[in-house]
Amino acid sequence: MAAGIGSSLESLRYARGSLQVLDQLKVPQAKEYIEVPDADAAWHVVRSMQVRGAPLIAIVSALGLAVEATARMGKAVAPKDAGGFLRERMQFLRTSRPTAVNLFNAMEALEAVVAAAIATCTTAEEIYLAYVKAAEDMLAEDVRANKTIGDAGADAILADMEAAGRGGSGARVLTICNTGSLATAGWGTALGIIRSLHARGKLEQAFASETRPYNQGARLTAFELVEEGIPGTLVCDSMVASLMQRKGIDACVVGADRVAANGDTANKIGTYGMAVIARHHGVPFYVAAPTTTLDPKTLTGSDIPIEERPADELTCLKLGGQTHRLAAPGIGVWNPAFDVTPAPLITGVVTEWGLIGKRGGDSNSFDVSGFLSG
Ligand code: MRU
Repeated sequence: MAAGIGSSLESLRYARGSLQVLDQLKVPQAKEYIEVPDADAAWHVVRSMQVRGAPLIAIVSALGLAVEATARMGKAVAPKDAGGFLRERMQFLRTSRPTAVNLFNAMEALEAVVAAAIATCTTAEEIYLAYVKAAEDMLAEDVRANKTIGDAGADAILADMEAAGRGGSGARVLTICNTGSLATAGWGTALGIIRSLHARGKLEQAFASETRPYNQGARLTAFELVEEGIPGTLVCDSMVASLMQRKGIDACVVGADRVAANGDTANKIGTYGMAVIARHHGVPFYVAAPTTTLDPKTLTGSDIPIEERPADELTCLKLGGQTHRLAAPGIGVWNPAFDVTPAPLITGVVTEWGLIGKRGGDSNSFDVSGFLSG
């Protein structure tokens, strides 16, 4: 099974027994693919930020172990040892990065597959194969889910524009971080909505915020927009308020690393600020997230673990293997990689199962558990 994404950009190349990932630290200067032969290598590309984006982190972790499991097939191993090996590797894969729940959801689902295989299979090979097939299914499902999200999000934005008296006009959409083909197995989540609007001839302009300090907007989203011929404009994060004041943004669409049970959403740092500004300007604010990003076990945003990253991402500029210091040595630094947007600021969460809206009555929150079970 080979990954096909309907886009010229491939975050990964997979065929059974082989995985390569695009080194995102080299984009846009170079498109170089790295071999990922096992779980150790998968952990490393995620940890080092060569692979990024909540859905992609999960899929590369799952597939890295699938490649290793494929290589182990045919070796004489007791079934219980094969199961033990997979479980130990999955436990290890969970330790790469803490915030995006897709990784933990994927490992939990794969653990259930392995448990069922241990209970029913008579050989190690069958257990490995059950794992490999389940990981491959995740890859295919991510692309399918993203295309559905793209269409549903485009419908929602166009309906809002109609209601606002802008029906028939092209949409002006603002996004943050990278949520496109490079952050997923293909097509993208929030950028997938922008892609769907463009495919329908309904996009006037996509605005991408630079996304300091790691610059995913400048480095990755701008690259995707240019590569795909989608009209795009880059702005600094500090320009977002002026942009809404002066350019008439129709909607904000952002991705998510984790959506808590009440709808509070962790996403790249700067997302919360964008949502506050959107509320001030009456701009609809949509989160695009596959159901693998929903975390009903985490009740509110304050329970979401937020990764804090090294100080030199703020104090230095690293380019082309060179480091240039910006800030005085000795200055204190706080560098959280994500923030939490409270549910009341979110218009809706667009998933492949449809739009999660606010609960009726008094509440400004979402019923994520009810949505998943209903
Ligand atoms: O730290 P990164 O580069 O992995 O962060 C990526 C993001 O925060 C994305 O906005 C998020 O994962 C959205 S999912 C497509």
